[in-house]
Amino acid sequence: MCGIVGYLGEERAAPVLLDGLEKLEYRGYDSAGICVVNGGKFFVVRKKGRVKELAGARALEGNPGIGHTRWATHGAPSERNAHPHVFGKISLVHNGIIENAACLRAQCEARGEVFSSDTDSEVAAHLIGRFYGEKGDLLGAVSAAAELLAGSYAFAVLAEDKEEIVCARMRSPLIVACGPDGVFAASDVPAVAKAGRVAYVLEDGDFARLTRGKIELFDGALRPVVREAVALEEEEVSPGKGEFRHFMRKEISEVPAAVLNSLPDLSKPEFSEVCKVLCQTKYLHIVACGTAYHSGLCMKHAAEKFARVPTEVFVASEYRYADPIVPPGTLTIAVSQSGETADTLAAAALAKSRGSVLIAVTNVAHSSLTRVADFVLPTHAGREIAVAATKSFNAQLAVLYALAVQLAKTAKCCAPPLAGLPVLARETLAASAGVASWTPYFQGARSVFFLGRGADHCAALEGSLKLKEISYLPSEGYAAGELKHGTLALVDGRTPVVAVACDEALADKTMNAVHEVYARGAAVFLVTPFSALAQAKEVTASVLIPRCEPAFSPILSVIPLQLLAYHVALALGKDPDKPRNLAKSVTVE
Ligand code: F6R
Repeated sequence: MCGIVGYLGEERAAPVLLDGLEKLEYRGYDSAGICVVNGGKFFVVRKKGRVKELAGARALEGNPGIGHTRWATHGAPSERNAHPHVFGKISLVHNGIIENAACLRAQCEARGEVFSSDTDSEVAAHLIGRFYGEKGDLLGAVSAAAELLAGSYAFAVLAEDKEEIVCARMRSPLIVACGPDGVFAASDVPAVAKAGRVAYVLEDGDFARLTRGKIELFDGALRPVVREAVALEEEEVSPGKGEFRHFMRKEISEVPAAVLNSLPDLSKPEFSEVCKVLCQTKYLHIVACGTAYHSGLCMKHAAEKFARVPTEVFVASEYRYADPIVPPGTLTIAVSQSGETADTLAAAALAKSRGSVLIAVTNVAHSSLTRVADFVLPTHAGREIAVAATKSFNAQLAVLYALAVQLAKTAKCCAPPLAGLPVLARETLAASAGVASWTPYFQGARSVFFLGRGADHCAALEGSLKLKEISYLPSEGYAAGELKHGTLALVDGRTPVVAVACDEALADKTMNAVHEVYARGAAVFLVTPFSALAQAKEVTASVLIPRCEPAFSPILSVIPLQLLAYHVALALGKDPDKPRNLAKSVTVE
């Protein structure tokens, strides 16, 4: 991932770069750095950790400048590996992965060049620095280096003796923008959004040259090109935390609104084309990653139960290299909160290239995914800032369940209504407050299991992902009936178990697993609408959630699990909003 910014204009570059980097911190926060040119010299400040560590650099004089916030791929999160990288007369920031870095580095070292980091990115700095040293042509140097690079990149490059920034894009997002106050480059719109500025989205293979008040765009052969201009509005003020200590807790509180706002009315004329596609759908494929993959699994239960449409759910990073079979009549749904996940984008493009219609379900209008999709069904969860996805998951389910219901209607099958779900989500949120008191059982835990059957298993998988990602406790979501086939060996008194039992037809079977883990000393916590189950002696504590159609129940049952993860993270002293090693948008493979 990583976020990059560049600025050339009337103001001192340092504060502009730092403000931009703060807006891009969702892309990674392992280290940050800026480089500004002053009097023909580079001034570089790099720090391990978050952008705020660069506060001292705000006073730097100079313009132009470039900046970077890093999510480490090659090389540890450290100051040594922080960008910008300087070689010869150039300085570079990079987002992406140079896949042939090892080979290129060996070639550079054989020429006697010395590296000062363990990153793949520094290889690009060496190549560009060397080529620039030969001819003094920055655009030519970046283009010559690009020809040697394999992988993905968005670069912003400065030369200490030139007032220009050169950018390049290949499979990593990059926009450039121009306004009365200067020219800008960035990984994403929020870093440059301001009324009066105009932005251009670079395409793969494009280069951009930014000089005073001017942006020139070039294709891969350095021929001038024109890209669509987008007028930027003032960036909406970032939502605050309100009455909450953390964004994650605030975003969980927004789940009912996210569900309400996202439930589409597919009978409206604007969806008529989507409905026509549903009529022709024989197979459903869903591609997604992480939490969005779990919403795909939930959709499978609903689509197969109500519409009897065979549904396969694929981890996007596997699908893209799996030579997938896409029969005629396949509808592919790509689910992504950010709409920028590299694996999901690649899987979506592959599905399309094999003849599938593609629907994007995403929370970000105008994201890359919306540009490849035939149809976009937006989620309206509102901006999600905490790295762990919460309300966006429930919003995805609202859209996907609506699609499942519509599919059922087109197949002349019955499906239950969805309209009551927002109110039930509100009741579930209120009923879940007690999970805060479960934390002592998790603080000393060795590992945690989340169990369920059918759709409850999907909720268990998502509950487990939430817990491990923000509390760093080893945890597994497991099909309740499968536990006894080996995994039960892991269960003892230091293995709390969270069981989800919302399907009456399966609940007793899930309780069998509860008895088994209880007998091995595990403390059991239950999420269920059935009070008789909650009273079982094996259950240490429970959340009684409202009853709803079992295939839709993950949209409710996940709420106490999201809250549990939050409270356990707090009890263990972790920052739930910014878990280590992660980033909100995963734009690398
Ligand atoms: C988990 C989480 C990730 C994302 C995954 C896909 O809390 O946030 O697992 O769900 O990286 O991201 P999107 O939905 O943006 O494609």
